[in-house]
Amino acid sequence: MCGIIGYVGKQDAMPVLVGGLRRMEYRGYDSAGIALVSGGHTAVVKRKGKITNLADALTAKKPTGMTGIGHTRWATHGVPNEVNAHPHQAGHITIVHNGIIENYADLKERLIKDHGRKFESETDTEVLAHLISVKREKDESLEAAVLSALLEVEGTFAVLVLDERDPDKIVAARRGSPLLVGIADDAIFLASDATAVIGHTDRVVYMEDDEIAICTPGKYEIIDFKAQHKRHEEQQIKLELKAIEKAGYDHFLLKEIMEQPKTIADILRGRLDLDAGTSHLGGLNTDPKFYQQMTRFLTIGCGTAYYAGLLGQYLLERMTGLPVDVEFASEFRYREPVVNGHTLGMIVTQSGETADTLASLRELKRRGTRTLGLVNVVGSSVAREVDGGVYLHAGPEISVASTKAFTAQVIAQILVGLQIGRSRKLSATDGKAIVRALEALPAQVQSILDQHERIKAISAKFADAKNVMYLGRDALYPVALEGALKLKEISYIHTEAYPAGEMKHGPVALIDEELPIVYFHPKNDLYDKTRSNLEEVRARGGRLIIVGTEGDESLKEFSDDVIYIPDAHAYTQPILANIPMQLFAYYVAVSRGTDVDQPRNLAKSVTVE
Ligand code: M6R
Repeated sequence: MCGIIGYVGKQDAMPVLVGGLRRMEYRGYDSAGIALVSGGHTAVVKRKGKITNLADALTAKKPTGMTGIGHTRWATHGVPNEVNAHPHQAGHITIVHNGIIENYADLKERLIKDHGRKFESETDTEVLAHLISVKREKDESLEAAVLSALLEVEGTFAVLVLDERDPDKIVAARRGSPLLVGIADDAIFLASDATAVIGHTDRVVYMEDDEIAICTPGKYEIIDFKAQHKRHEEQQIKLELKAIEKAGYDHFLLKEIMEQPKTIADILRGRLDLDAGTSHLGGLNTDPKFYQQMTRFLTIGCGTAYYAGLLGQYLLERMTGLPVDVEFASEFRYREPVVNGHTLGMIVTQSGETADTLASLRELKRRGTRTLGLVNVVGSSVAREVDGGVYLHAGPEISVASTKAFTAQVIAQILVGLQIGRSRKLSATDGKAIVRALEALPAQVQSILDQHERIKAISAKFADAKNVMYLGRDALYPVALEGALKLKEISYIHTEAYPAGEMKHGPVALIDEELPIVYFHPKNDLYDKTRSNLEEVRARGGRLIIVGTEGDESLKEFSDDVIYIPDAHAYTQPILANIPMQLFAYYVAVSRGTDVDQPRNLAKSVTVE
């Protein structure tokens, strides 16, 4: 979702801004723009569509300046076009903004009535620009004007503000949308995420909600909304540039699918204890007594993270004997949730910035619930606000469609289950079997990835499908949901996912000779039951793609398109079953020529609700 970059220093700002915007392309956007201040004048260039369009316009216009701000916009108020693209200007003030100004209509009416302000765009951001401009007419400093404007604003924002009369300064503020300050000797960078500043500096400070940063070349000061000075520890970003590059792959998505043997090894490193049949997680940060006394898990996430939580429900209940409820964050946040001091709120998120997930976390904390974050992005808002956490160590996930993070989210739950389970009902023998299964995962995943040519060939047969149904039972039902989500978001094919046993209660009506059905049927405790459901599908003529266990020749009677996964423990089998579905979705999308890494309408990190 919208990306923000700012630079105030001693160099030409344009390459920094354009480079930063390119690095944040993965967040999803529909237009882009930059503003540069020089000689008391602000040059604004913006374009609809890809950053290449903006870069072409900049090559033609060649604006210069050592202070500048840039933005990729994911439309909320007003269609994606050049007028609605950021930056927005009001008099001497220019701003970029991520978030939503909820009371923008009231503010706009007042600005028109009381101040005769005129508006060009349909955006809430332009209203904020005018509000700051009006305040600046009275206030002594830019920061005072920004503070006074923001005190009247309801909603969320990460905002960067320029005043061409104060050319060596950027004022930044945050509430609810991510923003960091990158620090170098003679420059300050501002960005929505760390990928935009890698290569320029590895020193950052993460801004908190309701804070303002006043930035000049090489210097910054942070104050809160009461104008009190704030101090934050500087953090070192450990990301390397190569981690956010394609490494020779055609798409980030393929790279991220293919690197899973490594990312799985990374999340497991130093955390498994075979002798004790358990895991060691340094970040749980909770009195072990809590885990003995807790009565319930409450797992919260969105999209793929929610499906990882659903899968975890099947596993954690078996490992710990505790009930696990799983909630969509967007639903949970406005309910009257029933929680108590013995509930563990488990927050699952790749980015750590998803607005609904963050709001749910805050609601849980407000109600006194202990929280545990399963988070990928180090230093993200969720990572900073949870009581304890397990980092996913999946590395930067650039492609909008989540793959390696899903795998890591499921593994993280197994690690949590091992630790809590061993203090409750999980025997050492069962714990050891799970540890061994986890240790075997990287090689097993690699053996599936090695079948990519075969999976590509199967995908080619289904590239023209209009609908695809996914069916699985037990822990393979969430895998069906996740497989269906992956295909729909990157290929734009309509998909449905159902528990295989539920199919005859309605969805069976959809099956005809045309309908492709992905059917999860590996060897497990429900194999015979799942076989009956498979017969029911076959009887109605669906085109089957079956995911089964290596050596199960009987599946070939049902379809030519069988994808085999290694025989595995019941808890790691769903992880393995998901891997070919990632490749299947990828190759179908490539055949259809969609924008695989940045599918239409989608944003990587959904920072508005
Ligand atoms: O960053 P998060 O894990 O909180 O993101 C949650 C969802 O927005 C995300 O998983 C989304 O569903 C992906 N596009 C799925 O591929």
